[in-house]
This record gives sequence, structure tokens and C-alpha cells, in this order.
Amino acid sequence: MPTDSERYAFLPGAVESPTIVDGDGVHLITADGRRILDAAAGAIVGNVGWGRTSVAQAAAAAMKMGYVVPLWPTPSRLALHDELVDHWLPEGMSHVFFTSGGSESTDSAIRLARAYQVAKGRPDRWKVVGRHPSYHGMTLGTMAAASHLTRQKGYEPLLLPFPKVPWDDPEQVLKVIEQEDPGTIAGFIAEPITGAAGACLTASDEYWQTVTDICHEHDILLIADEVMTGYGRTGITWGHQHFPFEPDVIVGGKGLGGGYVPLGAVAATDEVAETLRGSGFMYFTFTGNDGACAAGLEVLQILRRESLVARAASMGAVLESRLRAELGDHPAVVEIRGKGLFWGIELRCSRDAVMMAALERDMWVYPAGSGPVADAVMVAPPFVVTEADIEQIVTRLRASIDQVHPG
Ligand SMILES: Cc1ncc(COP(=O)(O)O)c(C=O)c1O
Repeated sequence: MPTDSERYAFLPGAVESPTIVDGDGVHLITADGRRILDAAAGAIVGNVGWGRTSVAQAAAAAMKMGYVVPLWPTPSRLALHDELVDHWLPEGMSHVFFTSGGSESTDSAIRLARAYQVAKGRPDRWKVVGRHPSYHGMTLGTMAAASHLTRQKGYEPLLLPFPKVPWDDPEQVLKVIEQEDPGTIAGFIAEPITGAAGACLTASDEYWQTVTDICHEHDILLIADEVMTGYGRTGITWGHQHFPFEPDVIVGGKGLGGGYVPLGAVAATDEVAETLRGSGFMYFTFTGNDGACAAGLEVLQILRRESLVARAASMGAVLESRLRAELGDHPAVVEIRGKGLFWGIELRCSRDAVMMAALERDMWVYPAGSGPVADAVMVAPPFVVTEADIEQIVTRLRASIDQVHPG
């Protein structure tokens, strides 16, 4: 008799994983009744926490209608659009379209950069500059723009040769853009704080000022990939707002649907949208799915009603100080870094072994790292996390690392 994991997995030989039947705040409930402390909000998606019946109810009510083609407004689409423009997006960024997640959003932003340059009469501009390391999704376009060596391995012949700049060196950014010729560059895509590829690598203000200036100087579309860092995860609305980083396009996913629905959004400045007027920019069949939009609206309204972004900042400060106190001098820890409720712990031991040791202790942490960051785990719980939960997270993480790397 195959196990649930064997039955479900696409690939044979999958690692045994718990079957999850319910969620409650910061916990996932397994079929055999264990409560797993979800210290990474799933894949860093569950900002409002689990078991929110109001989200399910909002989605169910909207789904009764059925399907409507992407360009036609519906009440759910309009309400989510207005919520984003009125309460979340920066001034001057009132043009939004929806997708079904992060990869569709980043891939669309790459296409948007190209369409923008073509609309401006610059067909020679096609390259999108990415950073090393970085992750933007699993479509061929997003893989080409990113630098996550383990996830890209083997696909190289299918990927466009997009230029890469280091994540931290402003001089190199200028040099690479000069060498590549700005007249061939359509866009620059960047995670404000690097997620899965770098476990919260954070560049300097000087770096972001340089990126912003060079992109503005050459009219290179600057895309902020806020799929992980958006919607309050770093303790303020958008990750880029910590830095002198002024994007033309903001891309979000994960926290927008809160983990309840597949949902993403791409927002552009009024100038970008105006340039594309009449260009026939194409959407996806499920752009603006009504159930997803209604759920996303309720997720955003929960964040506002319960002041959860401010809570991500205050609980983030508690998490930071407890992580540093407990793990700052640990011989297996290279560095602890992050902002808000978005933390990376770079390790000198196997991240998968630490992740498994944490699961044995009924806790989920997110394995991360690629290129210069060989091993790391990320801690990014739902914003409803309490001080007692944080104590549990830090204690169990310490025990898991001790098990893998004693002394
Ligand atoms: C920064 C970033 N961009 C894009 C993506 C892709 O999002 P999705 O997995 O929803 O397609 C991710 C996913 O982890 C991400 O962290």
C-alpha cells in the first residue's frame, strides 16, 4: 500500500512528508493529529495565518458567478483593484493587472519591459538584467533573468543569455550595464531583499541608489520583485521602501492571496501604462479569477483591520533579538539577517538536515540558498505569531541545528 506521499508525488522516490488536513493560526494540523509550527508561513505566503474562514467565505461567494474574460470588470476585480490602488501601492502607480502567482507576475513584468521599449520605438532593447544570486520563478523567462544555480541546472540551452550583476557591488552594476550597452537593455529585475536564493541578503543604500540612477538615466524599466517581500512581510508595505530603490513596476504574489488562493499582481507607473496604450498587451485566461480576487481582498483587509503590518515590524524585532541571542555565536551559523518577519540564517551545515531535524520537532522552516550562500534556512512566520510562538521557534531551531552540527 503506497503512502500518501508516494501516491501524491509526481516523481518516484519522494521524501515522506506529513499529510496536512487543517490550519490554525501559526499551526498546520496533520492527518494523524500533530500540530506543526509553521515558522515559514508555508512558502512564505501565509501572512494572515491559517484557518481564516472569512477568506474562504469571500471566495465561495464570488465563485458562484463562474468565469468572465480577463478584460471585463467584475465586482471582485474592481474591489481588489481599488484596495490596492487606495491602500497599498505607491503614489503614481495606479495601473494593475492580476495573475495566478509569482512566476506569472515576474514573467509578465519581463514581457512588459520588452513591450515598453518596443512601444517607445527601441526594438534593439531586449535584455533584462538580473542579480546573482536571485530567484524570480520557474518559467523559462524568469529562470533566464534570475541566478539560482541549482534550480537552473540543466535547462541552460533553453534560457536567454540575460546579463547578471552581483547582488552587492554598485561599481559592477555600472560596469556590466556599460559593457552590455544600455541601448540593448529593456529592464532590470531585483528582489529588494533576496529570498530563497540568498536567504535575506541585503544590499546597501548606495547599491540601490546606483541601480535606480542608472535605470532612470537610460530609461531601463526597474522591476521590484516583491513576491516574497511585499504586503508587509518586512514590517513595512513593500521591501523596496527600506532603500533608495524607486521601481517603475512592482510585482507581487504569495502574501497577496495569503496562501489561500493562487494570486499575483503586476503594478506599473502611469507613465509605463500610458506608453503601452493600444499595444494589445496580452493577459492570461485566469487573470482576475473572481474567487482569487475576493479572497485576496479579504486577506488585505484582514491585514489592515488587525494592523498586521505593524505587528510584523514589532514581532520581527522580538524574533531578531531572540535569534541573535540564541544563535548569534553558534559555530554552525555564518550570519543572521533580515527585516520584519523575514529572516535568513546562513549555515555551515546541511540546510536539508536542519529542516528535517526541525520537522522531527514538529516545526517547518524554509530551506534556502544558492551560489555564494550554500546552506541556509528561512524563518518567516505568519504575522499573527506571538512571543510564546517565537520562543518555540527559536528553541526548536537551536535544538535542530545542535543535532546536525554539535559543538
Ligand atoms: C522573489 C520571488 N519571485 C518569484 C517567485 C515565484 O513565485 P511562484 O512560486 O508563486 O510562481 C518566488 C517564489 O518563491 C519568489 O520568492
